[in-house]
Parts: sequence; C-alpha cells; structure tokens
Amino acid sequence: MHSKLIQLLLLCTFSLFSDVVFGDPPYTICSSSGSYVNGSSFENNLNNLLSSLSSNASDSKFYNTSYGIAPDTVYGLYMCLDYISNDSCQKCIATVTEEIVKLCPQAEEAIVWEELCQLRYSNNNFLGSLNVTGNIGLDNVQNLTDSEKFESAVNETLRNLTKVASFKVSANMYATGDVPFEDETIFALVQCTRDLTANDCNRCLQSAIGDIPSCCYASIGGRVLSRSCYLRYEFYAFYNGATGPTDSSNGNRESKNRSSKIWMIAGITVVVGLAIVFFIFGLYLVRNKRHPNGKNEIENHNINLGSLRVATNNFSDMNKLGQGGFGPVYKGKLSDGQEVAIKRLSTWSEQGSEEFINEVLLIMKLQHKNLVKLLGFCVDGEEKILVYEFLPNGSLDVVLFNQKQRAQLDWSKRLNIINGIARGILYLHEDSRLKVIHRDLKASNVLLDYDMNAKISDFGMARIFSGNEGEANTATIVGTYGYMAPEYAMEGLYSIKSDVFGFGVLLLEIITGKRNAGFYHSKNSPSLLSYAWSLWNEGKGIELSDPLLCDSCPGDEFLRYMQIGLLCVQEDAYDRPTMSSVVMMLKNESATLGHPEKPPFSVGRFNANDPDSQECSLNFLTMSDILPQ
Ligand SMILES: *[C@@H]1O[C@H](CO)[C@@H](O)[C@H](O)[C@H]1NC(C)=O
Ligand SMILES: *[C@@H]1O[C@H](CO)[C@@H](O)[C@H](O)[C@H]1NC(C)=O
Ligand SMILES: *[C@@H]1O[C@H](CO)[C@@H](O)[C@H](O)[C@H]1NC(C)=O
Ligand SMILES: *[C@@H]1O[C@H](CO)[C@@H](O)[C@H](O)[C@H]1NC(C)=O
Ligand SMILES: *[C@@H]1O[C@H](CO)[C@@H](O)[C@H](O)[C@H]1NC(C)=O
Ligand SMILES: *[C@@H]1O[C@H](CO)[C@@H](O)[C@H](O)[C@H]1NC(C)=O
Ligand SMILES: *[C@@H]1O[C@H](CO)[C@@H](O)[C@H](O)[C@H]1NC(C)=O
Ligand SMILES: *[C@@H]1O[C@H](CO)[C@@H](O)[C@H](O)[C@H]1NC(C)=O
Repeated sequence: MHSKLIQLLLLCTFSLFSDVVFGDPPYTICSSSGSYVNGSSFENNLNNLLSSLSSNASDSKFYNTSYGIAPDTVYGLYMCLDYISNDSCQKCIATVTEEIVKLCPQAEEAIVWEELCQLRYSNNNFLGSLNVTGNIGLDNVQNLTDSEKFESAVNETLRNLTKVASFKVSANMYATGDVPFEDETIFALVQCTRDLTANDCNRCLQSAIGDIPSCCYASIGGRVLSRSCYLRYEFYAFYNGATGPTDSSNGNRESKNRSSKIWMIAGITVVVGLAIVFFIFGLYLVRNKRHPNGKNEIENHNINLGSLRVATNNFSDMNKLGQGGFGPVYKGKLSDGQEVAIKRLSTWSEQGSEEFINEVLLIMKLQHKNLVKLLGFCVDGEEKILVYEFLPNGSLDVVLFNQKQRAQLDWSKRLNIINGIARGILYLHEDSRLKVIHRDLKASNVLLDYDMNAKISDFGMARIFSGNEGEANTATIVGTYGYMAPEYAMEGLYSIKSDVFGFGVLLLEIITGKRNAGFYHSKNSPSLLSYAWSLWNEGKGIELSDPLLCDSCPGDEFLRYMQIGLLCVQEDAYDRPTMSSVVMMLKNESATLGHPEKPPFSVGRFNANDPDSQECSLNFLTMSDILPQ
C-alpha cells in the first residue's frame, strides 16, 4: 500500500520537472524551400559529399568541401568540438551523416547538431558566409537566484572568449576558459566553423551570446547552437578540464574551493519537490521500521530516485560524464550541495532488489583512500543506481594519453599514482574483509582526485551483477584488450595474479606515457610489453621513458619501475609477484629485484590495426569478482 503511494508521489515530483527538460540531440533545421528527387544527380552528389566529410573526420575537427557540377553542386561542412578526440569526432560525424538524410528527407539544405558535432549541407554555397538565423538555445534546467549578476558574468566571460577565438590566430576559432563566480566556477567554450573570417566568427558568437537571455536566462548552464558557431557554459568542466589555446588554468583549481553552501536552489517548484521527497523519505523510514528484517543501513545509504533526478537534471545529457560498460555515468549535485557521480546501471542485471541491496551494502564496506567511495544507491522499479564520490580530475586515461595533459604528470606525480593504485589493489586482494579480484584494471578505471591521487573504480561489479559467488565464475566475462592476462584471455582462468598483470600493464603505460593496446613497434615487438622487455634486456630500457618527463625523471628510478612492471606482466602467472611484494618493491629502493621472464608475446586480439581496442570493453560486460576470504 505504501509503495503505491510512494510511486504516485514520485510521479508527482517528476512531473513538476519533466516539462522543463529539453529533448536529447540530434537537433535539426531542415529547409523546406526545396526538395530533391530520389535518384537525381543532386542526391548522388549529396551522398558523395557526406562520405567525403565522414572520411575526413578521422583527422580533422573541421572540414568543408563541395561535390558535383552546377546546378547540382552540393556544399557541405562539419565541425566537431575541438576538445574531443579524433576518434570521437569520426564517430560523431559517421552518426550525423547517416542521420541527416533520415531527419531531413529530400531537403536541399539541412543542418544537424549532435552533442559533440554539427553537419551542414546546402545546394547554395554558404561556405565562408554568415547566417545567424535559426539559432537553437538550450538551457540547463536549474535556475539561479541572483541571476542578474550571473548573467553579466556569463556575458563577460563569453565575450572575452569570443575575442580570443576570433582574433587570436593561434586559437584557431576555439577558446575555453573558467572564471570563478561566487562559490562556483563558470566553465565556458566558444567555437566557430573555420570557413568564416575572424570578423564573421566574432559576429556569429556575439549573436549567439545575444540569444542567451531568451533561451537560458537564470539557468546555471546553457548552449547556443548556431549554423557557424557554438557556445556553451556550465558550472563544471564539461570540456574535460582540457585547456584551450588561451586557457592558462587547468579548470579544476576553483572546484577545490567550493563549499557546500546551497544557493542555487530556487523557485517554489524545487521547494515543493524537496518537501515531497522528504515526505517520501519519511514514509520509507516508517515502512522499514515495520519490517523486522529491514536494514538500518538502507536508511543511511538509500537515495531516492527523485533526488537523483533533481541532482542530474533528470539524467540530462548535459550532466553525462561518460558511458561505461555498466551504463551511463552522470554528474549530480545532491540537495546538500555535495557533488556526486551517478552510475545508472543498465537494466539487464537479473538480480532482485533485495539481493542487489545486500551486495551493494557489502561493497560499501570496502573503504580505502585509493578506492572510489561508494556513497549510496537507489533501487526503484527497474532502476538500479549507484552513487559515488565525484572526482573532478576525471580518469587517468584522459590525462595520460593526451599529449597536452600528460605534461602535467611529472615523475613524482606518476609515482604517487602508481603507488596509490598498488595500495588500492593490495587492499582489495588482501586487506579487505572480502577478497576482491578486480578483473578490469585499466587506465579508464583509475580516477584522479584534486591532488592527483589515484582511486580505483568499478570494483565489486561482479557481485552486483550476479549476486552469487558461484555464478560469478560462470558469467560471460570479457576484460579489456591490452590489459588481460594471457591465462585469462585464452583459458578464462583468473586469479589475483591476473590483476597483478593488469597492474603491470598500467605501470608501464604510466611511466612511458604509451598505451599498450594499439602500440606496435615491429613484428618481433608487437606490444608495449614485448618491446619494453626486449629493450630492457638489451640494456636500453631508458629509451622508453616518456620524453615529456624531461629531466624530472631519474634514469635509475625509471629502470627500477620498468623492471617491477615487467615482473608483473610475466607470461607465467606463477612467476608474477603478489601485490604485497609489489608494494614492498615499490617502497624499498634497495630491494633486490628478480630478472623478469618473457611477457606474453601478444594477448587477446589487440594489435596496431585495431583502433577499436579501447572501445571494446565498453560493449562487453567487464567486471570484478569477489571471493570469500
Ligand atoms: C524517396 O525514397 C525514400 C526512401 O528511400 C522514400 O521514403 C520516399 O518516399 C521517396 N520519395 C519519392 C518522392 O519517391
Ligand atoms: C577528404 O575529402 C577529400 C575530398 O573532398 C578527399 O579527396 C580526401 O581524400 C579526404 N581525406 C581523407 C583523409 O579521406
Ligand atoms: C588527430 O589527427 C591529426 C591529423 O592526422 C593529428 O595531427 C592529431 O595529432 C590527431 N590528434 C590526436 C589526439 O590523435
Ligand atoms: C572550404 O571553404 C573555403 C571558403 O569558402 C574555400 O575557400 C575552400 O576551398 C573550401 N575547401 C574545400 C576543400 O572545398
Ligand atoms: C539565412 O537562412 C534562412 C533560412 O535558410 C534564409 O531564409 C535567409 O534568407 C538566410 N539569410 C541570409 C542573409 O542569407
Ligand atoms: C527558470 O527561469 C525561467 C525564466 O525565468 C523560467 O521560465 C523557468 O520556469 C524557471 N525554471 C525553474 C525550474 O524554476
Ligand atoms: C575579460 O577581459 C577583461 C580585459 O582583458 C578582464 O579585465 C576581465 O576580467 C575579463 N573578464 C572575465 C569574466 O574573464
Ligand atoms: C553583454 O554585455 C554587453 C556589453 O557590456 C552588452 O551590450 C550586452 O547587452 C550584454 N548582453 C547580454 C545578453 O546581457
């Protein structure tokens, strides 16, 4: 009876918000002025244009071209946001080129905006000319109280960036920046299509800024999608903390100073919403009291769906931090001001709610400074959600495999990260009350806190997805190419030594700044591991040191770490050290290290010609496993 009532109340809570939530991309403008016929040469030219744009997207964030002879010429261009990777740009454009003909069938002129890119074609030559009609404004649904002051701060920030993007030649029509505002930081981005002149870029962005009051007044975030430019601002570093050409700070500095002071909750809607949320919470308490086996911990860690929806703008794309193997992750801000990462598990976990809660409560007991803290969870109908602490510096892979960002990781920071990861795994393997094998250690599963300390994420997922140790062993499990131990990749056998292997790969990646998956030196050294091993044996290990480390890295220390890494990735699991010896070797400079035996020649399917190797893990279930100790 109570749960019916709760559902009803939850529905009421959401309906208060749902009508202000914007639809998801793609957004389109399809011209209705003319249409082409099927099988015409215009259609043929258009298809050729689209595939040419798509093929150029793998190595350029902007491209314009035309196809065919008059009068059937088609002109087109695409633009990816400058901060995304070549890979993401390629994917985005591949998607949009397919979408555009479906969304605007037979249109002679069309534009489609996706989250990270935009594509435009026309039968008229629009390249190099500006048209600012039809801008689309999108607001973040949360409003501010002191909106006037905020608006002028946003206005000024965007104007400053516009000048940089337009007139500073090296900026190449793109700029990002962050500006402190009260307890928060405004992060902003502007970008123009590069067919424009500097003056037109300036005009395009000024016009887009002028659209903000009508789309996004008082909103804590907003975007304006224009034909030849794009702008966005938020209270968080949506551009991944990546620094634009002009941006001297790293975008995370101010986050540190955020206090939990709540000042942005405004409007009667939210107050009413919260009142209802509290009321429901009260009902839960009453209900749990009446169940003799009701778990007290639930009251402490169970977070209701309503507040998670409020915290994430109803799981809006603007709050999305990424898409992991278990479902999307959102950034959220709870009503007490705390920032959290919210993992919305895909619904194919077959577990019942009771079991799920039991598993989560167990995993919640794993607490270590090098593990991402699991703060709470939510079970509501089909929804199963985990709430983690939010780490502003994102994941290690983003920092490590980006030339610009990697430079901030000097040798001592890298050692600190390696040691943190080692201690986190040691805790999982030996120190926690449960013996946990992670099974999917990789750079993207290591998050970084304010001070660049490593925190391991996604541990204990096997438990959550199977709910039963026996089953965990038989579930279909696929790790990530490039990190999988050979015995696991080939025979499906795993042990704590498979995690040691994953750690060794990570260590080598961190000190060399190179990805194992996708690394290819020669036929005899097809992977980073085999190449490192052969260099080490020839006494030339130092050749692999990251050139970005310059002189912050003492050569002998580099070689010692390399040796420890190589000991961890030895082909025979039996030869690999345990995590406790690894931690000791890392700590004790005078420890005598053994001679590493050969690493596996090549593991799994990763190789130089497999650009998808990083992506694979997202499509498979990757999980960690817990055994009773
Ligand atoms: C053109 O082809 C599309 C699908 O290929 C179809 O939906 C549409 O009706 C066709 N239009 C005409 C005018 O034949
Ligand atoms: C980019 O497009 C042009 C045609 O406009 C084509 O000649 C060129 O090969 C493309 N580049 C790539 C890398 O595909
Ligand atoms: C993207 O491609 C361009 C051109 O091939 C290249 O110069 C650039 O380094 C690539 N960027 C990344 C991050 O790989
Ligand atoms: C892109 O547009 C510019 C400006 O109109 C033009 O000069 C240039 O030739 C175009 N590039 C291609 C490859 O068509
Ligand atoms: C801009 O585009 C709109 C819609 O396509 C069109 O009606 C208008 O004439 C264009 N304006 C200019 C100045 O080209
Ligand atoms: C935010 O402010 C805008 C404009 O003042 C208003 O239309 C909108 O309803 C407000 N949204 C909320 C959630 O209060
Ligand atoms: C904008 O630029 C002006 C002049 O360079 C500077 O004084 C001001 O602080 C900047 N404002 C913001 C919000 O960045
Ligand atoms: C932004 O500031 C400029 C100059 O101070 C002003 O002219 C303009 O009206 C402001 N725009 C908005 C949207 O507030």
